[in-house]
Amino acid sequence: MPLSRLPSPSGARPAARLDLVLVGARGQVGTAFRRRLAEQHAAIARRAGIDLRLLAAFDRRGFAYDLEGLAPTELDAVLQPRREDAIEALFAHLQSPRQAPALVVDCTASDAIAARYPEWLASGLGIATANKRANARELAFYRQIQRAAAASGAPYRFETTVGAAIPILGPLRDLALRGEGVRAIQGVLSGSLSFLLERLHSGQRFSAALAEAQSLGYTEPDAGEDLRADDLVRKLLVLAREAGFALEPHEVSVTPFAECAASHPDQWAAHLDAEDARWAARIAHAKASGTRWTILAEVDAAGARIALRELDATSPFATLPAGQNLVRIETDLQHERPLWLGGPGAGPDITAAGVLSDVIAAGQALVRGAQADNRRRSVAA
Ligand SMILES: NC(=O)c1ccc[n+]([C@@H]2O[C@H](COP(=O)([O-])OP(=O)(O)OC[C@H]3O[C@@H](n4cnc5c(N)ncnc54)[C@H](OP(=O)(O)O)[C@@H]3O)[C@@H](O)[C@H]2O)c1
Repeated sequence: MPLSRLPSPSGARPAARLDLVLVGARGQVGTAFRRRLAEQHAAIARRAGIDLRLLAAFDRRGFAYDLEGLAPTELDAVLQPRREDAIEALFAHLQSPRQAPALVVDCTASDAIAARYPEWLASGLGIATANKRANARELAFYRQIQRAAAASGAPYRFETTVGAAIPILGPLRDLALRGEGVRAIQGVLSGSLSFLLERLHSGQRFSAALAEAQSLGYTEPDAGEDLRADDLVRKLLVLAREAGFALEPHEVSVTPFAECAASHPDQWAAHLDAEDARWAARIAHAKASGTRWTILAEVDAAGARIALRELDATSPFATLPAGQNLVRIETDLQHERPLWLGGPGAGPDITAAGVLSDVIAAGQALVRGAQADNRRRSVAA
């Protein structure tokens, strides 16, 4: 007999309002987030006790704002051309005292947006972000963000910045809180490079595999970002710092996936024959020795590195299907049998679902804080 489902817990109190400002509103993750918000709004109010209102949404081109809340899936009809003064007025309003709790949802990859986090957090605005730029800048900035969040009590959540919706950063934080030191982390964390490796192992030339990955949109618009492993460096910085390693960006040693990445994409054509030959030799060697090439992000007491590794073909990292991420965490208590966390490492829908989890957790913390403030005020009055 099929099992029936337990009813969701329903709070006795009416749902508390939480205002959201979505940045990157029409990007892949931003669009999927709006869809998910529209689908789940009523159920989240029931389950989590928060009424999520999309107060404002913007990207580089447009801006929309409604005090009562925008319809998340009907944004195109209300977006106006972006105006900086309107955005600054919005944030001045949100940062003014006695506002209902509010949360910025960052679905961009923008350094300019990441640069605002300390100011937003210091003023009590929460942040839920898929953008890893802030946590991957110099260590002093990372610490500035942590300090701003701690001082104001505003929640700062970024679980999807490594491994999309796979819970990796939360478990790492739990390990740190219970004093279980992390000794080493290894991970396969790049969807685009895993795709290239799968194609190379199946016999495709490097140049053809790269062209296919570009045509399918699996690489960044500048594929040099992927081949230089820039994004992977950012993910490793976030992971390492959350595990307690004080790591500066320049301290990550990187073996580029392809040597042509050192030159401008306009000059790659001249290097592709050599790259094809280099990869053909590597793959032939792996076939003859029962191994498989993987690109691993690693951090331990000896340092942090992104490196191509030729692993036994039966290694869990080597047998991973393209698109999946896998992380191995060695701790003081779990080193002979380390902790493994894995699952789909990218995709707008799964990432947006992870962002929504961060929004709910951050929103509940903000609402609890606002309710406690109100209680204190009414006792004092
Ligand atoms: N896609 C995934 O599977 C995935 C998985 C995990 C994490 N992420 C992360 O999620 C973020 C978004 O990824 P995506 O794939 O959705 O990227 P995307 O499709 O390129 O969307 C980026 C969005 O950011 C907006 N934007 C850029 N700079 C901005 C600025 N200064 N102010 C306001 N808006 C700005 C863009 O606006 P315009 O359209 O106007 O330029 C666009 O709406 C990235 O940080 C990415 O690393 C993505």
